[in-house]
Amino acid sequence: MKKICILASGNGSNAINIIKYFQSNKNIRISIVASNNQEAKVLTKANLLKIETLYFSPEQLINGFMLEKLTSMNIDLIVLAGFMIKIPNSLISRFHNRIINIHPSLLPLHGGKGMYGINVHKSVLKSNSKYTGITIHFVNQNYDEGKIIFQAKCKIKPKTSIKDLIKQVKSLEHKFYPKIIHTLINENN
Ligand code: GAR
Repeated sequence: MKKICILASGNGSNAINIIKYFQSNKNIRISIVASNNQEAKVLTKANLLKIETLYFSPEQLINGFMLEKLTSMNIDLIVLAGFMIKIPNSLISRFHNRIINIHPSLLPLHGGKGMYGINVHKSVLKSNSKYTGITIHFVNQNYDEGKIIFQAKCKIKPKTSIKDLIKQVKSLEHKFYPKIIHTLINENN
């Protein structure tokens, strides 16, 4: 049995989509959804789907508490899904190439510190790009700079609103993130 931990800070549409994708899989399980935000909707939603949830403080992410928790649970893969704080080096080295993130643009474009959620989409619209998309990548010590695993692209129609752009990108995220996780976890036998 392969075990996945999802880290999320907010609404959790990706987290829930991933949970549902693996619900009937007998070899891969979402073992825990953990958040640095006690109020995060993702915690309530995951609970309703009978997934173990955990709130942790920023301190507990760096003082070894989370490292110990995820190690003792024998987690195989850590999946960031709208997780808004930096992963400490201790976790990155313990889970080498086993922490992945999804970013709502075609990295290296519109990435880096402060580039998350709506900030990314605002930056994309401001750049007048013809395309945007998603990037799934390994997490290293620098924001959004880990090795790219997968990208998918979509066209930005003229005069697209930020709401429509978010919708377009989210639908790519929902389509591809579970599949890429599936492939990756099977490759890491
Ligand atoms: C997603 O669009 C994800 O790509 C983004 O946060 C959103 C979370 O949405 N992540 C980042 O910006 C990371 N830099 P969700 O809570 O509905 O899954």
